[in-house]
Amino acid sequence: MPEISEDDGVTRISLTLDQDRYDVIVGEAILANLPTHLAEVGGFRKRAVLVTDSNVGPLYADAVTKPLRAAGYEIFEITVPAGEASKSMEVATDVCRQMLRAGFDRKSFLIALGGGVVGDLAGFVAAIFQRGIPFVQMPTTVVAQVDSSVGGKTGVNTPEGKNLLGAFHQPRLVLADVATLQSLPDREYNEGFAEVIKHAAIRDASLLSLLERVGTRRENLVPLIARNVAIKAAIVEEDERETTGVRALLNFGHTVGHGIENAAGYGRMLHGEAISLGLVAAVRLSVAYSHLNQKIADRLIAVLKQFELPTSLPSDLSRHDIVEAMARDKKFEEGAVRFVLLKSLGDAFVSADVPITAVEDAVLTLYGP
Ligand code: NAD
Ligand code: GLY
Repeated sequence: MPEISEDDGVTRISLTLDQDRYDVIVGEAILANLPTHLAEVGGFRKRAVLVTDSNVGPLYADAVTKPLRAAGYEIFEITVPAGEASKSMEVATDVCRQMLRAGFDRKSFLIALGGGVVGDLAGFVAAIFQRGIPFVQMPTTVVAQVDSSVGGKTGVNTPEGKNLLGAFHQPRLVLADVATLQSLPDREYNEGFAEVIKHAAIRDASLLSLLERVGTRRENLVPLIARNVAIKAAIVEEDERETTGVRALLNFGHTVGHGIENAAGYGRMLHGEAISLGLVAAVRLSVAYSHLNQKIADRLIAVLKQFELPTSLPSDLSRHDIVEAMARDKKFEEGAVRFVLLKSLGDAFVSADVPITAVEDAVLTLYGP
Protein backbone atom coordinates (compact mmCIF):
# COMPACT_ATOMS: atom_id res chain seq x y z
CA MET A 1 0.00 0.00 0.00
CA PRO A 2 1.24 3.52 -0.69
CA GLU A 3 2.42 5.54 2.30
CA ILE A 4 0.26 8.58 2.93
CA SER A 5 1.25 11.57 5.02
CA GLU A 6 -0.19 15.01 5.58
CA ASP A 7 1.59 18.22 6.43
CA ASP A 8 0.25 21.76 6.43
CA GLY A 9 -2.68 21.04 4.09
CA VAL A 10 -0.55 19.05 1.65
CA THR A 11 -1.02 15.30 1.22
CA ARG A 12 1.86 13.16 0.03
CA ILE A 13 1.21 9.71 -1.42
CA SER A 14 4.41 7.67 -1.87
CA LEU A 15 4.46 4.86 -4.42
CA THR A 16 6.97 2.04 -4.23
CA LEU A 17 7.31 0.05 -7.44
CA ASP A 18 9.80 -2.58 -8.64
CA GLN A 19 12.30 -0.05 -9.92
CA ASP A 20 10.83 3.30 -9.08
CA ARG A 21 9.75 5.21 -6.04
CA TYR A 22 8.05 8.57 -6.28
CA ASP A 23 5.70 10.89 -4.49
CA VAL A 24 2.42 12.38 -5.60
CA ILE A 25 2.02 15.69 -3.80
CA VAL A 26 -1.51 17.06 -3.63
CA GLY A 27 -2.07 20.58 -2.34
CA GLU A 28 -3.58 23.98 -2.98
CA ALA A 29 -1.56 26.70 -4.80
CA ILE A 30 1.65 24.68 -4.88
CA LEU A 31 2.83 25.17 -8.50
CA ALA A 32 5.59 27.51 -7.36
CA ASN A 33 6.97 24.87 -4.98
CA LEU A 34 8.39 22.75 -7.82
CA PRO A 35 12.05 23.82 -7.30
CA THR A 36 11.86 22.79 -3.62
CA HIS A 37 10.43 19.37 -4.52
CA LEU A 38 12.96 18.84 -7.33
CA ALA A 39 15.76 19.52 -4.86
CA GLU A 40 14.17 17.09 -2.39
CA VAL A 41 14.01 14.30 -5.02
CA GLY A 42 17.50 15.16 -6.29
CA GLY A 43 19.36 14.15 -9.46
CA PHE A 44 17.78 16.70 -11.81
CA ARG A 45 20.06 18.74 -14.06
CA LYS A 46 19.32 22.45 -14.40
CA ARG A 47 17.95 22.16 -17.94
CA ALA A 48 14.39 21.16 -18.68
CA VAL A 49 11.67 21.34 -21.28
CA LEU A 50 8.17 22.24 -20.16
CA VAL A 51 5.42 20.81 -22.36
CA THR A 52 1.99 22.33 -21.99
CA ASP A 53 -1.05 23.05 -24.17
CA SER A 54 -2.56 26.20 -25.63
CA ASN A 55 -5.17 26.52 -22.84
CA VAL A 56 -3.03 25.67 -19.84
CA GLY A 57 0.17 27.48 -20.89
CA PRO A 58 -1.28 31.01 -20.75
CA LEU A 59 -2.88 30.25 -17.36
CA TYR A 60 -0.12 28.48 -15.45
CA ALA A 61 3.21 28.23 -17.32
CA ASP A 62 4.60 31.42 -15.76
CA ALA A 63 3.67 30.27 -12.25
CA VAL A 64 5.85 27.22 -12.86
CA THR A 65 8.71 28.66 -14.92
CA LYS A 66 9.37 31.89 -12.97
CA PRO A 67 10.36 30.19 -9.70
CA LEU A 68 12.30 27.57 -11.67
CA ARG A 69 14.28 30.21 -13.53
CA ALA A 70 14.83 32.08 -10.28
CA ALA A 71 16.27 28.85 -8.89
CA GLY A 72 18.74 28.65 -11.80
CA TYR A 73 16.93 26.29 -14.18
CA GLU A 74 17.04 26.88 -17.92
CA ILE A 75 13.53 26.14 -19.21
CA PHE A 76 12.50 25.64 -22.84
CA GLU A 77 8.73 25.83 -23.36
CA ILE A 78 6.78 23.82 -25.95
CA THR A 79 3.07 24.46 -26.35
CA VAL A 80 0.91 21.98 -28.26
CA PRO A 81 -2.65 22.67 -29.41
CA ALA A 82 -5.20 21.83 -26.69
CA GLY A 83 -7.25 18.69 -27.31
CA GLU A 84 -7.05 14.95 -27.87
CA ALA A 85 -5.76 15.39 -31.44
CA SER A 86 -2.39 16.39 -29.97
CA LYS A 87 -1.96 12.89 -28.56
CA SER A 88 -0.48 11.69 -31.84
CA MET A 89 2.80 10.31 -33.13
CA GLU A 90 3.10 13.39 -35.35
CA VAL A 91 2.95 15.79 -32.39
CA ALA A 92 5.26 13.55 -30.33
CA THR A 93 7.80 13.57 -33.18
CA ASP A 94 7.51 17.33 -33.48
CA VAL A 95 8.12 17.79 -29.73
CA CYS A 96 11.16 15.47 -29.90
CA ARG A 97 12.57 17.33 -32.89
CA GLN A 98 12.12 20.72 -31.19
CA MET A 99 14.00 19.31 -28.21
CA LEU A 100 16.80 17.99 -30.43
CA ARG A 101 17.12 21.30 -32.25
CA ALA A 102 17.25 23.10 -28.89
CA GLY A 103 20.17 20.87 -27.88
CA PHE A 104 18.48 18.68 -25.27
CA ASP A 105 20.21 15.42 -24.43
CA ARG A 106 19.82 12.47 -22.05
CA LYS A 107 20.77 14.61 -19.08
CA SER A 108 17.80 16.94 -19.43
CA PHE A 109 14.37 16.37 -17.97
CA LEU A 110 10.81 17.13 -18.96
CA ILE A 111 7.88 18.73 -17.14
CA ALA A 112 4.33 17.93 -18.29
CA LEU A 113 1.96 20.75 -17.31
CA GLY A 114 -1.63 20.09 -18.30
CA GLY A 115 -4.38 17.51 -18.52
CA GLY A 116 -4.21 13.86 -19.50
CA VAL A 117 -3.42 14.72 -23.12
CA VAL A 118 -0.28 16.66 -22.21
CA GLY A 119 0.70 14.10 -19.55
CA ASP A 120 0.33 11.09 -21.87
CA LEU A 121 2.02 12.85 -24.79
CA ALA A 122 4.89 14.41 -22.83
CA GLY A 123 5.36 11.22 -20.79
CA PHE A 124 5.67 9.29 -24.06
CA VAL A 125 8.21 11.80 -25.37
CA ALA A 126 10.16 11.40 -22.10
CA ALA A 127 10.05 7.61 -22.58
CA ILE A 128 11.44 7.64 -26.13
CA PHE A 129 13.65 10.74 -26.20
CA GLN A 130 17.22 9.41 -26.36
CA ARG A 131 15.88 6.12 -24.91
CA GLY A 132 14.29 7.83 -21.93
CA ILE A 133 14.72 10.91 -19.78
CA PRO A 134 13.23 11.72 -16.37
CA PHE A 135 9.95 13.58 -16.21
CA VAL A 136 7.67 15.33 -13.76
CA GLN A 137 3.88 15.41 -14.00
CA MET A 138 2.04 18.61 -13.09
CA PRO A 139 -1.58 17.59 -13.76
CA THR A 140 -4.18 20.35 -14.11
CA THR A 141 -7.43 18.43 -14.75
CA VAL A 142 -9.43 16.08 -12.54
CA VAL A 143 -8.69 13.18 -14.92
CA ALA A 144 -4.99 13.89 -14.83
CA GLN A 145 -4.81 14.41 -11.05
CA VAL A 146 -6.79 11.32 -10.04
CA ASP A 147 -5.70 8.99 -12.81
CA SER A 148 -3.42 9.66 -15.74
CA SER A 149 -0.47 11.34 -13.98
CA VAL A 150 -0.03 8.35 -11.67
CA GLY A 151 1.17 4.94 -12.80
CA GLY A 152 3.43 5.56 -15.77
CA LYS A 153 1.15 4.73 -18.69
CA THR A 154 2.16 7.06 -21.49
CA GLY A 155 1.23 7.02 -25.14
CA VAL A 156 -0.47 8.39 -28.19
CA ASN A 157 -3.47 7.49 -30.33
CA THR A 158 -3.53 6.37 -33.95
CA PRO A 159 -6.50 6.50 -36.33
CA GLU A 160 -6.93 2.79 -35.47
CA GLY A 161 -7.57 3.42 -31.79
CA LYS A 162 -6.77 4.99 -28.43
CA ASN A 163 -3.39 4.64 -26.74
CA LEU A 164 -2.21 1.99 -29.20
CA LEU A 165 1.39 3.26 -29.18
CA GLY A 166 3.00 3.85 -25.84
CA ALA A 167 5.37 2.92 -23.09
CA PHE A 168 5.43 2.44 -19.35
CA HIS A 169 7.54 5.29 -18.03
CA GLN A 170 7.09 6.37 -14.44
CA PRO A 171 7.41 10.03 -13.47
CA ARG A 172 9.98 11.04 -10.84
CA LEU A 173 7.47 13.31 -9.13
CA VAL A 174 3.82 14.30 -9.48
CA LEU A 175 2.76 17.72 -8.23
CA ALA A 176 -1.03 18.12 -8.30
CA ASP A 177 -2.21 21.64 -7.51
CA VAL A 178 -5.97 21.50 -6.93
CA ALA A 179 -6.22 25.30 -7.30
CA THR A 180 -5.76 24.79 -11.05
CA LEU A 181 -9.05 22.87 -11.15
CA GLN A 182 -10.93 26.13 -10.47
CA SER A 183 -10.27 27.40 -13.98
CA LEU A 184 -11.63 24.28 -15.68
CA PRO A 185 -14.86 24.94 -17.57
CA ASP A 186 -17.79 23.02 -16.01
CA ARG A 187 -17.81 20.44 -18.78
CA GLU A 188 -14.09 19.66 -18.35
CA TYR A 189 -14.40 19.61 -14.55
CA ASN A 190 -17.35 17.22 -14.63
CA GLU A 191 -15.80 14.82 -17.15
CA GLY A 192 -13.06 14.00 -14.65
CA PHE A 193 -15.65 12.58 -12.31
CA ALA A 194 -16.23 9.65 -14.65
CA GLU A 195 -12.86 8.31 -13.43
CA VAL A 196 -13.67 9.25 -9.81
CA ILE A 197 -17.02 7.42 -10.02
CA LYS A 198 -15.12 4.49 -11.56
CA HIS A 199 -12.79 4.45 -8.53
CA ALA A 200 -15.79 4.42 -6.19
CA ALA A 201 -17.38 1.61 -8.19
CA ILE A 202 -14.35 -0.67 -8.22
CA ARG A 203 -12.68 0.06 -4.87
CA ASP A 204 -14.35 2.52 -2.50
CA ALA A 205 -18.08 2.23 -1.75
CA SER A 206 -18.09 5.16 0.71
CA LEU A 207 -16.61 7.46 -1.94
CA LEU A 208 -19.91 7.16 -3.80
CA SER A 209 -21.85 8.57 -0.84
CA LEU A 210 -19.33 11.41 -0.59
CA LEU A 211 -19.81 12.22 -4.28
CA GLU A 212 -23.59 12.17 -3.84
CA ARG A 213 -23.23 14.69 -0.98
CA VAL A 214 -20.62 17.00 -2.48
CA GLY A 215 -21.79 16.97 -6.11
CA THR A 216 -20.14 19.47 -8.40
CA ARG A 217 -19.13 21.94 -5.63
CA ARG A 218 -15.43 22.74 -6.08
CA GLU A 219 -14.56 22.87 -2.38
CA ASN A 220 -12.22 20.97 -0.13
CA LEU A 221 -10.60 19.26 -3.10
CA VAL A 222 -7.29 18.17 -1.56
CA PRO A 223 -8.77 15.23 0.42
CA LEU A 224 -10.98 14.17 -2.51
CA ILE A 225 -8.13 14.17 -5.05
CA ALA A 226 -5.70 12.56 -2.57
CA ARG A 227 -8.19 9.78 -1.79
CA ASN A 228 -8.44 8.98 -5.50
CA VAL A 229 -4.68 9.12 -5.99
CA ALA A 230 -4.36 6.63 -3.12
CA ILE A 231 -6.79 4.23 -4.85
CA LYS A 232 -4.93 4.48 -8.13
CA ALA A 233 -1.51 4.23 -6.44
CA ALA A 234 -2.50 1.09 -4.51
CA ILE A 235 -3.63 -0.61 -7.72
CA VAL A 236 -0.48 0.40 -9.60
CA GLU A 237 1.70 -0.87 -6.73
CA GLU A 238 -0.10 -4.23 -6.88
CA ASP A 239 0.19 -4.67 -10.63
CA GLU A 240 2.43 -2.06 -12.25
CA ARG A 241 2.53 -3.67 -15.71
CA GLU A 242 -1.09 -4.87 -15.81
CA THR A 243 -0.12 -8.52 -15.78
CA THR A 244 -2.09 -9.96 -12.86
CA GLY A 245 -5.53 -8.53 -13.64
CA VAL A 246 -5.56 -6.04 -10.75
CA ARG A 247 -4.63 -2.96 -12.79
CA ALA A 248 -7.06 -4.15 -15.47
CA LEU A 249 -9.84 -3.27 -12.99
CA LEU A 250 -9.12 0.37 -13.84
CA ASN A 251 -10.47 -0.44 -17.30
CA PHE A 252 -13.99 -0.67 -15.83
CA GLY A 253 -16.15 1.16 -18.38
CA HIS A 254 -13.26 1.64 -20.79
CA THR A 255 -13.93 -1.18 -23.32
CA VAL A 256 -17.11 0.44 -24.56
CA GLY A 257 -15.90 3.94 -23.56
CA HIS A 258 -12.80 3.80 -25.75
CA GLY A 259 -14.89 2.36 -28.61
CA ILE A 260 -17.26 5.33 -28.35
CA GLU A 261 -14.43 7.85 -28.04
CA ASN A 262 -12.77 6.45 -31.14
CA ALA A 263 -15.97 6.17 -33.18
CA ALA A 264 -16.99 9.73 -32.27
CA GLY A 265 -13.65 10.98 -33.59
CA TYR A 266 -11.28 12.68 -31.17
CA GLY A 267 -12.62 16.04 -30.11
CA ARG A 268 -16.38 15.54 -30.31
CA MET A 269 -16.73 13.88 -26.95
CA LEU A 270 -14.42 14.42 -23.99
CA HIS A 271 -12.66 11.32 -22.65
CA GLY A 272 -14.70 11.25 -19.43
CA GLU A 273 -17.95 11.65 -21.35
CA ALA A 274 -17.20 8.56 -23.44
CA ILE A 275 -16.15 6.72 -20.28
CA SER A 276 -19.44 7.71 -18.63
CA LEU A 277 -21.31 5.90 -21.41
CA GLY A 278 -18.92 2.96 -21.08
CA LEU A 279 -19.65 2.87 -17.35
CA VAL A 280 -23.39 2.71 -18.02
CA ALA A 281 -22.85 -0.27 -20.35
CA ALA A 282 -20.52 -1.97 -17.84
CA VAL A 283 -22.98 -1.43 -14.99
CA ARG A 284 -25.80 -2.97 -17.04
CA LEU A 285 -23.61 -5.94 -17.98
CA SER A 286 -22.72 -6.33 -14.28
CA VAL A 287 -26.42 -6.63 -13.43
CA ALA A 288 -26.81 -9.28 -16.14
CA TYR A 289 -23.58 -11.27 -15.65
CA SER A 290 -22.46 -10.81 -12.04
CA HIS A 291 -25.72 -10.12 -10.21
CA LEU A 292 -24.97 -6.52 -9.34
CA ASN A 293 -27.90 -5.22 -7.33
CA GLN A 294 -30.14 -3.10 -9.57
CA LYS A 295 -30.37 -0.38 -6.87
CA ILE A 296 -26.57 0.01 -6.89
CA ALA A 297 -26.63 0.12 -10.70
CA ASP A 298 -29.29 2.86 -10.56
CA ARG A 299 -27.27 4.81 -7.98
CA LEU A 300 -24.12 4.71 -10.13
CA ILE A 301 -26.01 5.93 -13.17
CA ALA A 302 -27.70 8.66 -11.08
CA VAL A 303 -24.29 9.94 -9.89
CA LEU A 304 -23.08 10.14 -13.49
CA LYS A 305 -26.15 12.27 -14.23
CA GLN A 306 -25.48 14.39 -11.11
CA PHE A 307 -22.13 15.31 -12.73
CA GLU A 308 -23.97 16.07 -15.99
CA LEU A 309 -22.22 13.21 -17.73
CA PRO A 310 -23.94 11.57 -20.70
CA THR A 311 -25.78 8.31 -20.07
CA SER A 312 -27.27 7.91 -23.54
CA LEU A 313 -25.68 8.02 -26.99
CA PRO A 314 -26.47 10.58 -29.68
CA SER A 315 -28.43 8.82 -32.43
CA ASP A 316 -26.01 9.88 -35.19
CA LEU A 317 -23.16 7.91 -33.64
CA SER A 318 -23.09 4.59 -35.46
CA ARG A 319 -23.20 1.41 -33.38
CA HIS A 320 -21.33 -0.33 -36.18
CA ASP A 321 -18.41 2.14 -35.84
CA ILE A 322 -18.35 1.70 -32.06
CA VAL A 323 -18.31 -2.10 -32.35
CA GLU A 324 -15.55 -1.94 -34.98
CA ALA A 325 -13.49 0.38 -32.77
CA MET A 326 -13.94 -1.95 -29.77
CA ALA A 327 -12.72 -4.88 -31.85
CA ARG A 328 -9.44 -3.04 -32.49
CA ASP A 329 -8.98 -2.26 -28.80
CA LYS A 330 -6.18 -3.82 -26.73
CA LYS A 331 -8.81 -5.23 -24.36
CA PHE A 332 -10.14 -7.63 -27.02
CA GLU A 333 -7.71 -10.52 -27.07
CA GLU A 334 -7.97 -12.89 -30.04
CA GLY A 335 -11.65 -12.17 -30.46
CA ALA A 336 -12.47 -12.79 -26.79
CA VAL A 337 -13.16 -10.02 -24.34
CA ARG A 338 -11.88 -9.71 -20.81
CA PHE A 339 -14.57 -7.50 -19.38
CA VAL A 340 -14.46 -5.79 -16.00
CA LEU A 341 -17.66 -6.36 -14.01
CA LEU A 342 -18.86 -5.34 -10.56
CA LYS A 343 -20.11 -7.92 -8.05
CA SER A 344 -21.07 -5.20 -5.63
CA LEU A 345 -20.13 -1.60 -4.97
CA GLY A 346 -16.35 -1.48 -4.44
CA ASP A 347 -15.78 -5.03 -5.65
CA ALA A 348 -14.77 -5.53 -9.28
CA PHE A 349 -13.29 -8.48 -11.17
CA VAL A 350 -12.20 -9.38 -14.69
CA SER A 351 -14.59 -11.80 -16.37
CA ALA A 352 -13.98 -13.95 -19.41
CA ASP A 353 -17.65 -14.92 -19.50
CA VAL A 354 -19.18 -11.90 -21.18
CA PRO A 355 -19.82 -12.75 -24.84
CA ILE A 356 -18.79 -10.10 -27.35
CA THR A 357 -22.37 -10.12 -28.62
CA ALA A 358 -23.56 -9.10 -25.13
CA VAL A 359 -21.13 -6.15 -25.14
CA GLU A 360 -22.44 -5.17 -28.56
CA ASP A 361 -26.02 -5.43 -27.27
CA ALA A 362 -25.09 -3.27 -24.28
CA VAL A 363 -24.02 -0.56 -26.73
CA LEU A 364 -27.48 -0.79 -28.26
CA THR A 365 -29.09 -0.09 -24.86
CA LEU A 366 -27.22 3.24 -24.74
CA TYR A 367 -29.37 4.73 -27.50
CA GLY A 368 -32.52 6.36 -26.34
CA PRO A 369 -33.54 8.71 -23.54
P1 NAD B 1 -7.23 17.21 -21.69
O1 NAD B 1 -5.83 17.08 -21.34
O2 NAD B 1 -7.58 17.34 -23.14
O3 NAD B 1 -7.87 18.43 -20.90
C1 NAD B 1 -9.22 18.80 -21.13
C2 NAD B 1 -9.32 20.29 -21.55
O4 NAD B 1 -9.10 21.11 -20.41
C3 NAD B 1 -8.28 20.71 -22.59
O5 NAD B 1 -8.90 21.62 -23.46
C4 NAD B 1 -7.23 21.44 -21.75
O6 NAD B 1 -6.54 22.40 -22.49
C5 NAD B 1 -8.08 22.07 -20.69
N1 NAD B 1 -7.42 22.32 -19.41
C6 NAD B 1 -6.56 21.50 -18.76
N2 NAD B 1 -6.30 21.98 -17.55
C7 NAD B 1 -6.99 23.14 -17.41
C8 NAD B 1 -7.16 24.09 -16.37
N3 NAD B 1 -6.59 23.89 -15.18
N4 NAD B 1 -7.94 25.17 -16.58
C9 NAD B 1 -8.58 25.32 -17.77
N5 NAD B 1 -8.49 24.45 -18.79
C10 NAD B 1 -7.70 23.37 -18.61
O7 NAD B 1 -8.10 15.98 -21.18
P2 NAD B 1 -8.12 15.15 -19.82
O8 NAD B 1 -9.52 14.79 -19.61
O9 NAD B 1 -7.35 15.80 -18.75
O10 NAD B 1 -7.33 13.82 -20.21
C11 NAD B 1 -7.85 12.92 -21.15
C12 NAD B 1 -6.72 12.08 -21.68
O11 NAD B 1 -6.14 11.35 -20.60
C13 NAD B 1 -7.18 11.04 -22.67
O12 NAD B 1 -6.31 11.04 -23.77
C14 NAD B 1 -7.09 9.74 -21.92
O13 NAD B 1 -6.84 8.64 -22.76
C15 NAD B 1 -5.94 10.02 -21.01
N6 NAD B 1 -5.89 9.17 -19.81
C16 NAD B 1 -4.74 8.52 -19.56
C17 NAD B 1 -4.64 7.72 -18.44
C18 NAD B 1 -3.33 7.06 -18.12
O14 NAD B 1 -3.29 6.21 -17.23
N7 NAD B 1 -2.25 7.43 -18.75
C19 NAD B 1 -5.72 7.60 -17.57
C20 NAD B 1 -6.89 8.30 -17.85
C21 NAD B 1 -6.97 9.09 -18.98
N1 GLY C 1 -5.99 4.43 -16.55
C1 GLY C 1 -5.77 3.03 -16.50
C2 GLY C 1 -4.46 2.65 -15.93
O1 GLY C 1 -3.68 3.49 -15.55
O2 GLY C 1 -4.17 1.49 -15.85
